[in-house]
Amino acid sequence: MSLKLVNISKIFKDPDHANKEVVAVEDVNLEINEGEMVSFLGPSGCGKTTTLRIVSGFENPTTGEVWLGDKMINDLPPNKRDTAMVFQSYAIFPHLSVGQNIAFGLELKGVKADIVKKEVEAIMATMNLTELYNRSPDQLSGGQQQRVALARSIINKPSVLLFDEPLSNLDAKLRDLMRFEIRRIQQSFGITSIYVTHDQAEAMTVSDRIVVMNEGHIMQVGTPFEIYSHPANKFVADFIGRVNFLDSIVEEKNKDGKYLVHIGKNVKLINSSTGNFTKGDKVLTVIRPESLTVSIGEKDSGSVYNGVVEKAVYLGATVEYDIMVDGREIISAVTHNPVIEGVFKSGDRVNIDFDPAAAHLLGE
Ligand SMILES: Nc1ncnc2c1ncn2[C@@H]1O[C@H](COP(=O)(O)OP(=O)(O)OP(=O)(O)O)[C@@H](O)[C@H]1O
Ligand SMILES: [Mg+2]
Repeated sequence: MSLKLVNISKIFKDPDHANKEVVAVEDVNLEINEGEMVSFLGPSGCGKTTTLRIVSGFENPTTGEVWLGDKMINDLPPNKRDTAMVFQSYAIFPHLSVGQNIAFGLELKGVKADIVKKEVEAIMATMNLTELYNRSPDQLSGGQQQRVALARSIINKPSVLLFDEPLSNLDAKLRDLMRFEIRRIQQSFGITSIYVTHDQAEAMTVSDRIVVMNEGHIMQVGTPFEIYSHPANKFVADFIGRVNFLDSIVEEKNKDGKYLVHIGKNVKLINSSTGNFTKGDKVLTVIRPESLTVSIGEKDSGSVYNGVVEKAVYLGATVEYDIMVDGREIISAVTHNPVIEGVFKSGDRVNIDFDPAAAHLLGE
């Protein structure tokens, strides 16, 4: 089912100062489509868990409405909401076998034994758990426990699945595997889902769309590609991956809505993602390190900058550079074909350039 948050805010009393308030979430508006998986991404304390708890009903919003399909569910208690939470501590019952754990929810509802058995077997097959039917939880790996917890939530066929950093207890390798597993299972059941994380790679792997949050506000909502390639503001650009902000000055706007801007020693025609600029405006050209080209030799005229390599880190497949421009500004660049393009070393004078299609403008 689709899910909609309308003007959601949550203000807590500060537990240490009676007359102070903590604004955890402010004026959040969001629509999540049926079957879509959306992640909440943002730094610690930005309001991800609070928003999730408001959806699940464990927290009441100070203002605003939560809609599930065409029903406003503000007044429904958590157990009547048809949502299921998957936490980082998986909370499976230690005294029950894997099969019994997964069957628990249906038995609680009074579903007939033969139907429970069928449903449990089906879900265990989908989730590659079949051979673990009789194991007890303490005989499972972390990833297997996580899958059992997920199976236990999914078997009740909730309309919405809510994940709060479900993988943070697992080691890096297992986390990578489980991301794909969670995504595969979510897609195969088509369950509308919210996935809370502060790991950008995780958000990019599991999401149809990412909601970037900061200090209780939504900064941007978009597909992983949109968020990375066209961040709506400095916070998003900075939070996701590495980025260069190049001081630039607008010369003119052409009839296609592109801007001619001065950057370094050159002029480029660049798209804006935000704002409406006029001649003389100071703007930032936003470009990722991997979109820059680095070359050596007498190409001074065409390039945007000339600089001196401060630091070069050779990683085999890529080389990461910090390049000092005008003796003050450091620009990050990553090159991808060291065998062909060469590896420059600290102290080399280099030219930096880029294709304008890979850049965009932000207001300062
Ligand atoms: N019960 C509460 N009483 C007072 N303040 C609270 C309460 N719960 C959360 N907060 C505050 O609300 C803000 C948002 O908290 P929230 O748990 O939603 O953050 P988060 O984005 O999930 O962070 P993390 O990544 O660390 O889990 C924080 O400043 C937090 O201290
Ligand atoms: Mg949290």
